[in-house]
Amino acid sequence: MTHYLRSQHDAILVGVGTAVADDPGLNCRIAGAEESQPRPVILDPKARWEVEEASKVIRLAKAGKGKGPWVVVCRGVEVDEGRKRVLEAVGGGYLVCGEDGLKGLEWEAVLHLLGRRGIKSVMVEGGGKVINSLLGRENIGFVNSLIVTIAPTWLGQGGVVVSPDREEGEEQSAVGRLRGVRWCPLGEDVVLCGFPRGS
Ligand SMILES: NC(=O)c1ccc[n+]([C@@H]2O[C@H](COP(=O)([O-])OP(=O)(O)OC[C@H]3O[C@@H](n4cnc5c(N)ncnc54)[C@H](OP(=O)(O)O)[C@@H]3O)[C@@H](O)[C@H]2O)c1
Repeated sequence: MTHYLRSQHDAILVGVGTAVADDPGLNCRIAGAEESQPRPVILDPKARWEVEEASKVIRLAKAGKGKGPWVVVCRGVEVDEGRKRVLEAVGGGYLVCGEDGLKGLEWEAVLHLLGRRGIKSVMVEGGGKVINSLLGRENIGFVNSLIVTIAPTWLGQGGVVVSPDREEGEEQSAVGRLRGVRWCPLGEDVVLCGFPRGS
């Protein structure tokens, strides 16, 4: 299902934590998708992802099985020339976002930046920090729909936690709720789809 969803979007976005931890491919592996691969986007405010020729996403792009990644960094952050060359050699590159290197990346600015480059739909895959920031009150308006796969597995303490912060002084009410919800069993998993209220 992940690959079908990827095929429906112009870009797949992850945070640098995921790029570092997983060395993800961020392409669509459905036969025939070669012509319409989504653009991999990595949010990396401090340009700390050590992308190299051996990185999976670069190898896939070189093999024509994916697009070159765009790495979104904060203005004023120095990028490594070698990494820049690796990205540009496969049609990717660094994109500079925002006004101040210390403020971090704001979703509105990131989405505008991508929109100006022809990206009309973004599938945000993770990880925890990126999803938590997007599901928070300030940013939830940018989200059109949400898909959660629930597997019969416990990650245990220290796993990646997806649950946005409460605002200061907020009581125990839900931080968010979906509407138009569907639950679809898929093998051993259940897929939950819905729309954030107010989006
Ligand atoms: N189960 C799944 O489907 C799934 C999917 C994807 C990832 N994962 C897992 O998630 C883990 C990584 O998650 P993570 O939470 O450590 O990292 P993450 O969410 O992938 O990346 C977080 C980093 O992204 C940067 N960032 C840029 N803009 C941001 C924003 N608006 N909000 C938050 N972060 C922003 C920050 O980098 P700086 O710290 O440099 O500022 C931040 O530390 C991995 O273990 C991976 O396997 C699971």
